[in-house]
Amino acid sequence: MENLNTSTQQAPTTHVRSYTLHNKHGMQVTVTNYGGTITSILTPDKNGELGEVVLGFKDVTDYTSEAYLANQPYFGAIIGRYGNRIAKGKFTLNGREYSLATNNGENHLHGGVKGFDKVFWEVEELAAQNALRLTYTSPDGEEGYPGTVQVAVLYILTPDNELVIEYQATTDLATPVNLTNHSYFNLSGGKAQDALGHVLSIAADRFVTVSKSLIPTGELPKVAGTPMDFQTPVAIGARIGQVPGGYDHTYVLKETGKHLKHAATVEDPVSGRCLEVCTTEPGIQFYSGNFLDGSLQGHGGTPYKQHYGFCLETQHFPDSPNQPAFPNTILEPDQKYHQKTVYRFYVCQDE
Ligand code: GLA
Repeated sequence: MENLNTSTQQAPTTHVRSYTLHNKHGMQVTVTNYGGTITSILTPDKNGELGEVVLGFKDVTDYTSEAYLANQPYFGAIIGRYGNRIAKGKFTLNGREYSLATNNGENHLHGGVKGFDKVFWEVEELAAQNALRLTYTSPDGEEGYPGTVQVAVLYILTPDNELVIEYQATTDLATPVNLTNHSYFNLSGGKAQDALGHVLSIAADRFVTVSKSLIPTGELPKVAGTPMDFQTPVAIGARIGQVPGGYDHTYVLKETGKHLKHAATVEDPVSGRCLEVCTTEPGIQFYSGNFLDGSLQGHGGTPYKQHYGFCLETQHFPDSPNQPAFPNTILEPDQKYHQKTVYRFYVCQDE
């Protein structure tokens, strides 16, 4: 696709490009400069056969179609400035109240009407590292946020079938920053009708409870003895019927600290593909694709029905700017934001 222009405010048309990283095992990761979106990840199954493991489209224009914008699934995109919700789009910082764009009922979601998923990123190919470096400058006042924020996202494909995503940001005024990637996974390689048979474990003993509009109530109850408990591996679909609306919750990782720590593991018993997620973040949003409704057809013409894919979004907790007890998400001008997440793909029997 040439000359995609998604907004009347964005004066010059921008050239859409896609970039593919490869490694010696045949694993491939494709990223476009529109939204810094991961459009495809191919990994081998237990027979060495490559298959598509993320939801997305080959043609980048499909990320701007009416049906896509109506559904707003954020397939594979970089999410910012603030991943997840900020209640009523309001927060107070240094004595000043800020009003953000509201795009999810009365709340602010994933950076607003035109978040980092809908802007063009500069892309630099770093051949020596088998990486792509994406940069974007978010202007002061964008979607209501204070300060000019310089963002860099590094996508690295390692020889060990790891996709490493490293995020960095600096600002000239204090502002909330909570970056993540919104990839949806289905490890079947296009063969399963949904992801409910995937077996998941999450290294968390607590989760963030939310109201009907998915805003945290402030409580972090224990998962033990509830359908929220993934401390030992269990199929995504096993208890989903007991969770109103499906899973769309931030899990509080048991291990704290800013080092890289294990967050979740998923296994597709049929293809033998496994995925391990490690992160520097305190939380991981497990979203079971509840709002997918079959209206979008992606790779291989597959209709993406409810629960066809799931997200494991590593991040800070929702609405942290209004929740003083949650880990801090305010980036100050003298600080450097850093988050690192590793998605490691492997064949389950290998371990
Ligand atoms: C996030 C949210 C969900 C939903 C999806 C996109 O994961 O938590 O409620 O909005 O994004 O559809």
